[in-house]
Amino acid sequence: MDQRRTPLFTGLKNHIAKNPVQFHIPGHKKGKGMDQEFASFMGEAALSMDLINIEPLDDLHNPHGLIKEAQELAAEAFGADYTFFSVQGTSGAIMTMVLSVCHPGDKIIVPRNVHKSVTSAIIFSGAIPIFVHPALDNQLGISHGITPEAIEHACEAHPDSKAVLVINPTYFGVTADLKKIVSIAHRFSMPVLVDEAHGVHIHFHDRLPLSAMEAGADLAATSVHKLGGALTQSSVLNVKEGLITHKRVQSVLSMLTTTSTSYLLLASLDAARRHLATNGRHLAEHTLNLADQARKKINDINGVYCAGEELLGSPAAFDFDPTKLIISVKELGLSGYDVEVWLRKHYNIEVELSDLYNILCIVTSGDSLQEINLLIEGLTRLAREAHSDFYLKEVEVSIPEIPLLALSPREAFYSSTETIPFSEAAGRICAEFLMIYPPGIPIFIPGEIITQENINYINENIDAGLPVQGLEDDTLETIQVIKEHKAFQ
Ligand SMILES: Cc1ncc(COP(=O)(O)O)c(C=O)c1O
Repeated sequence: MDQRRTPLFTGLKNHIAKNPVQFHIPGHKKGKGMDQEFASFMGEAALSMDLINIEPLDDLHNPHGLIKEAQELAAEAFGADYTFFSVQGTSGAIMTMVLSVCHPGDKIIVPRNVHKSVTSAIIFSGAIPIFVHPALDNQLGISHGITPEAIEHACEAHPDSKAVLVINPTYFGVTADLKKIVSIAHRFSMPVLVDEAHGVHIHFHDRLPLSAMEAGADLAATSVHKLGGALTQSSVLNVKEGLITHKRVQSVLSMLTTTSTSYLLLASLDAARRHLATNGRHLAEHTLNLADQARKKINDINGVYCAGEELLGSPAAFDFDPTKLIISVKELGLSGYDVEVWLRKHYNIEVELSDLYNILCIVTSGDSLQEINLLIEGLTRLAREAHSDFYLKEVEVSIPEIPLLALSPREAFYSSTETIPFSEAAGRICAEFLMIYPPGIPIFIPGEIITQENINYINENIDAGLPVQGLEDDTLETIQVIKEHKAFQ
């Protein structure tokens, strides 16, 4: 196939060039019928492409023309049998993956630190999660991937599970040995579903980890918008047929997708695929060079550490994406949150995320040495000015035992709840999510039995100053639990 072609993007431009009189939605009609300040800011080109699924422009719900061709080109570029465009981000694609394989009551093996879209899909489907703990990196205070050994144990203990879901790479760019995980899961005839939100670019350079499709996974939900040059919200769902049928995936995706699909987003996926397929290697090379230079310079700054290849070597940190700069600032006596605010205030720099010990900066082909140098300048000044008399309390990052599941997350979601004092919650079934950062792994999800050990763990972490998130009552004095129905006397 000719990857220089962009059937959808080009088809849209040809349609716009004919300047048809539009008696269809969107009612702003090329920007004329909307707030004019917004229209002039957006520009005529963007607004004229804000179209809808009229006959010449094909339909994402039943593609047979421009969209079908664009998806076929994408499948070839990503090494998939089928690629489906998602205008509802990777969240929509992840929900599709889970709902395509799980019926109510089916088990699915998932890492404990899954994205909320996985939990939502577990609630929607009525599936039973079999959790596997990701490995912890105590120095950085982050979680990595799950080990093949942990997957093997889970598969052996629950051979009736319907699938294994893996986050690959993690937000911080670390990957497990995905090929090995796939071969283990396939031995049990379980398909592997990959949350590849942070890995669209890895398919295009051999210094980057194996992509889900290269590793033989069955489904991969991939954010093209995050690191692949598409507009925000635009993702793909890649399918390797065999254990999964593309028809099932397509109909579930359609059930979860708006009928008013944005052609701006769809065209951006078509163009991003061309950019990746024709220039991806070169773009990744440029990005890797910039990131290598940045990492080296950051590591020359006293008190600041940018993680590199030394991360690797454990089964959960098998490979990593060097374009992610995980910058640990704990030796400066500052938290990542402090540094995020400081960089914003003094250098107009916005980082991707911050946590207790780190900031995460992502480098892409959209960057140049100029941005990298500004970051280095900012971190150098920060290190010079950091108060050496202030020390961040070193906290032991740990994870408690995963509580027993008394109700499926779906049953818990639909149960009546009541609010009780947190200190009296041991023995009750939790109706909320509760998470501690770092390492960002849930302590409770709805349906799990609260134990005194878990309450103690949470109190210890609060005393150590770690943020607890998720409860409706952010003072943490009360918690919502499932209402108990006492027998009448
Ligand atoms: C690990 C992970 N999975 C899934 C998602 C969801 O991706 P999207 O924002 O494209 O819906 C995210 C978003 O940040 C994520 O970090």
